[in-house]
Amino acid sequence: MGTEKDTRTNYFNIFNDKKPIVVRRCSIEDLEGVIEVNEKELPEDYPYFFYKSILDNYPESFQVACNSNGKIIGYIMWRVERSPAINSLKLMNKGHLVSIAVLKSYRRSGIAATLLLNSMKKLKKYKIDEFVLEVRVSNYVAISLYKKFNFTTHNIKEKYYRDGENAYYMTLKA
Ligand SMILES: CC(C)(COP(=O)(O)OP(=O)(O)OC[C@H]1O[C@@H](n2cnc3c(N)ncnc32)[C@H](O)[C@@H]1OP(=O)(O)O)[C@@H](O)C(=O)NCCC(=O)NCCS
Repeated sequence: MGTEKDTRTNYFNIFNDKKPIVVRRCSIEDLEGVIEVNEKELPEDYPYFFYKSILDNYPESFQVACNSNGKIIGYIMWRVERSPAINSLKLMNKGHLVSIAVLKSYRRSGIAATLLLNSMKKLKKYKIDEFVLEVRVSNYVAISLYKKFNFTTHNIKEKYYRDGENAYYMTLKA
């Protein structure tokens, strides 16, 4: 288990006015704020119980970013799956990125990169062999973020999204 300091605080100053953004583990009280960010920023919405079950099962890697008023301005959540390796039948633990988003007015300040970095470190506690994710082929911003973290495209998942758009399936060895 991480210490309170380890799990709750990770301050970094990123704005001109030097107001700190806090990146920390998500709590049950944060879920409404997380859902608000998701609904504003992504077309894929989930019911409350879905967020709750991710939080119950994988709390270490469910992280939020808050502004100086405590408002949730970004989040990241992962689940852990046990499935065959890409090129063999050997079972592996995969950290699967479920969702990441940052409110528009807070973007391009390193918040998503911090969320990814912190949550990937935490995910290692679940004995992950590989990180995996899907991203819309048109989402060049997110693709650029994942490439920055050395994710590579493994294949394309045809019509992965409900509106018919294809996804890149990207992976990274843990
Ligand atoms: C993708 C998203 C989470 C990035 O959030 P962010 O906090 O603005 O990202 P960061 O400031 O941490 O940027 C990290 C990297 O992402 C990439 N990036 C971010 N914004 C970018 C932009 N407008 N254009 C190109 N690359 C961009 C860059 O590689 C950047 O690294 P750099 O600053 O060294 O160039 C945000 O744009 C978002 O919420 N988008 C809508 C939701 C979404 O698409 N989620 C991903 C679904 S798979």
